[in-house]
Amino acid sequence: MNATRISAGLSLRLSVTDRCQLRCRYCMPPEGFARCAREELLGDDELLALVSDLRAAFGLAKIRITGGEPLMRPRLENLVERLAALNPPDFALTTNGLRLAESAAALRRAGLRRVNISLDALDPAVFERVTGGRDVRAVLRGIDAAWAAGLTPVKLNTVVARGLNEDQIENLVVFALERGCELRFIELMPIGPGAALHAGGFVSSAELRARIAARFDLIPLGREAGASAERYCVTDPDGRVGTLGFISPCSAPFCADCNRLRVTADGRFLGCLAWEGGLSVREPLRRGDFPAIIQAARDVLRCKRDNADFTRHANMASVGG
Ligand code: 5AD
Ligand code: SF4
Repeated sequence: MNATRISAGLSLRLSVTDRCQLRCRYCMPPEGFARCAREELLGDDELLALVSDLRAAFGLAKIRITGGEPLMRPRLENLVERLAALNPPDFALTTNGLRLAESAAALRRAGLRRVNISLDALDPAVFERVTGGRDVRAVLRGIDAAWAAGLTPVKLNTVVARGLNEDQIENLVVFALERGCELRFIELMPIGPGAALHAGGFVSSAELRARIAARFDLIPLGREAGASAERYCVTDPDGRVGTLGFISPCSAPFCADCNRLRVTADGRFLGCLAWEGGLSVREPLRRGDFPAIIQAARDVLRCKRDNADFTRHANMASVGG
């Protein structure tokens, strides 16, 4: 294991459900996929025990709650409140935003600090085409609710695919500047259903930056160690200033200083999105076998890739972005 990688503690990504209302073209097969049985999912007590064990062994830099769509887990606020009591230095959640308008205030009260909201299009027809339906206005209400609740900084995540939503790029930048959100473009990864789209639709961060630079002023801010985004200061033609991020898992993998440990909703450790399968700790967790859990985490962390091979992972919805 690269000691410097986790010297500041683990960055834990907890998938709390594999369900989602959307069928994003790059993530979910249109027919959906085999979901975990209820008894396979980790309950709140199990998740709490797992995070406490990992914190004791490695230290904890961050918790990010993911899915599927995490807001589809019943009584998520209870789990958030208990995780918040462990005092993670950073505590975030990634969501599609559809249910955020109803839950933002309760999540903030429970101790969540901030949210990342997926937004691939502003135009309702394009949003529907990317996500397989649903109303983008619900997401926009969610973004407002996140601000109102103080779940800040509010970050927006956008995946661009050629021929799908590339006409949305400039509008999304202006929207983010108007709302004071940091917009981050994530390169489309060829995992699961993303593979077919990637073959003809991949747009690199460099190309995106060049397109944006044609209309906006961009000044590079660099990338922090362990972070995924290369950040830029952006100014629009009306003089509004903000920050953009470019996350480049394909064209510039950041595996070398990655300190993430992913936990799937059914209790598997994944060191990397590019992994298939992972290492299940559900049974050790259920019998309270602390040493086995820590050993599994060490094994997974030791095997992190130095260059991601995204073709081996089956689907993103079960591991959560
Ligand atoms: N490539 C890039 N990003 C993806 N996400 C899901 N699937 C992919 C993929 N194939 C991202 C979405 C969302 C987050 C949960 O995961 O952009 O913001
Ligand atoms: Fe759902 Fe997120 Fe996958 Fe879209 S990317 S289908 S919102 S889990």
